[in-house]
Amino acid sequence: MLLGVNIDHIAVLREARKINDPDPLDALSIVKRSGADQITIHLREDRRHIHDEDAQKIIENSPLPVNLECAINEEMIEKALFLRPHRVTLVPEKREEVTTEGGLDVVKNFDTIVMIAQKLKRAQIELSLFIDPNSAMVDASHALKTQWIELHTGMYANVYAMLFTNLSRTHHSIKTLELNRESLHVKLHEALAELSMASKKAHLLGLKVAAGHGLNYHNVTAIKGIEEIVELNIGQSIIARSVFVGLENAIKEMIGLLR
Ligand code: PXP
Repeated sequence: MLLGVNIDHIAVLREARKINDPDPLDALSIVKRSGADQITIHLREDRRHIHDEDAQKIIENSPLPVNLECAINEEMIEKALFLRPHRVTLVPEKREEVTTEGGLDVVKNFDTIVMIAQKLKRAQIELSLFIDPNSAMVDASHALKTQWIELHTGMYANVYAMLFTNLSRTHHSIKTLELNRESLHVKLHEALAELSMASKKAHLLGLKVAAGHGLNYHNVTAIKGIEEIVELNIGQSIIARSVFVGLENAIKEMIGLLR
């Protein structure tokens, strides 16, 4: 199982003070040394963490392939074409959200993504689509001839958190899930089944399957059990753990769970 480490949160910490420290660029060699396979960054429209200059330096200097997440608007796509990362992952973006909520609706945005896919192909940049784990999204992704899909694990992670961690600090979107424990267990089972079915279907269609969002040292084990998922992109939990054990150890601990 490949691991992409999302280093946005290093820039989040820097932006808390609006100074130059810590610099996400300094993470590159540590991520490589720790045995991870990819650097993932999200250049948001509001530039709330990673800035253009970070993205440029990271892409120019990374010893690992860089996966650039961005929204499907023209400015961001032009930026991605200029930056030339190894892969672009198209994600939905709402300005008020704390983090990416829900997958990209590749059915509704089909025509826009066709145009983007052509531009990225001409530039020899791999394309990935961050989608919810359902059949319609997988079919549309296949029709869009993307190389990768990344399945949104947020629902699974949220239900897992409701069942096994302190509810008051789980992400706000799950508060809509007012379910008792028995129903939560059913929901967890369903969320995993959806991920598994979407992965199998995508794999059969020839797509490479990644997954991510909300994965941590506890909930990652069941995801590892879905053999069609060949890559995970993980940020928050690894950077949070690195505060206590250092980035290298935090990544190695995660890799220890994955391989
Ligand atoms: N994959 C995608 C497409 C994302 O948008 C994010 C969040 O930036 C992640 C993975 C990583 O999520 P987390 O920080 O919850 O591990």
